[in-house]
Amino acid sequence: MDLFPSSHFNALLWSTTLLFSLCSPCLIANSDDSTTQTTPCSESDAYHNLNVVLNPNGTLTRLSPPSPVSPPSPDPNLHISVLSNDFPINPSKHTWLRIFVPRNAILSKKKLPLVIFFHGGGFIFLSAASTMFHDFCFNMADDLGAVVVSVEYRLAPEHRLPAAYDDAMEALDWIKTRPADGGWLSLYADYSECYLMGSSAGGNIAYYAGLRAAGQVENHEPLRIRGLILVQPFFGGIKRTRSELRLMSNKRLPLCVADLLWKLSLPEGGDRDHEYCNPMAGEGPERVERIGRRGWRVLVTGTGGDPLVDRQKEVMKMMEERKVKVGGHFTEGGYHGIQDSDLQKAKELYAVVKKFISSCTATG
Ligand SMILES: *[C@@H]1O[C@H](CO)[C@@H](O)[C@H](O)[C@H]1NC(C)=O
Repeated sequence: MDLFPSSHFNALLWSTTLLFSLCSPCLIANSDDSTTQTTPCSESDAYHNLNVVLNPNGTLTRLSPPSPVSPPSPDPNLHISVLSNDFPINPSKHTWLRIFVPRNAILSKKKLPLVIFFHGGGFIFLSAASTMFHDFCFNMADDLGAVVVSVEYRLAPEHRLPAAYDDAMEALDWIKTRPADGGWLSLYADYSECYLMGSSAGGNIAYYAGLRAAGQVENHEPLRIRGLILVQPFFGGIKRTRSELRLMSNKRLPLCVADLLWKLSLPEGGDRDHEYCNPMAGEGPERVERIGRRGWRVLVTGTGGDPLVDRQKEVMKMMEERKVKVGGHFTEGGYHGIQDSDLQKAKELYAVVKKFISSCTATG
């Protein structure tokens, strides 16, 4: 997740530097015990970092210039390897989706696996039209040889959770019935090979949509989900993990920023042990068993420089204990959202996803 529009990057670096200088006294005060729960930056630092103001009426003023967006490219005469097109889902909610189809599929009329993708942005920023996600999905469709559907969902705090999770289910319904897709899905997507995927907050959307879908598979036929692909999912919880403590002041996702994103996106009054945030909370672990019973596989990817990495591993372990076929791919270093700004890392991720998809296919 790159929360911060690139045009604002210098200002961000500046504000992060400021953040560190503000924070150093509290870090030093606790330096006798590195595992002590410190509060290196405050909520107001986090507002400053994200460059947003919460209005009394519950809306958010986003002060940074909007992140660049890309239009779809549906014209078959264009010399590009992947065509894309937008379709409305629910105009009253301003939800829609962008379908990416590799040209090869159009030429050969061969049906390809279907990857339903949810973008990141801490639930409060960005869009399926954001250039970074357009490019990510374009390249992924090309590399995997898959039809990719990127879903535009409602953002918090104007629409708090479960709005985004509900929109994901509505997208699944749309895809199932494809009311007016101009053949983009019916001709090229293999509905028996469907994957739910997301990065960062989008990883949570894929996870929670997966949990719901696993409880009512009949409703989604002929769509057959084979697996979930969770790229650096943005899971949280009240109790800090070791990596959250170790990396609480990292530049990409300081802990106070993660906390604020949850505060802005969870239902009013909800805390980070809400079931929408923490998969360990409440009946979460029990519900995960449905995914195991369906025989779906789960891939979790992460990187050592992401403060969320330990919780991602914990959730993986919980899924394993609940008899879900789950595999992890964790690299050293890096940072939260690295695949959105580092093309090489995105390429490496596609290779991992490709292998995962073939493993799901191989086992029927
Ligand atoms: C909420 O408040 C903001 C800032 O005062 C204002 O710009 C916006 O129009 C208001 N929105 C609604 C829905 O009332």
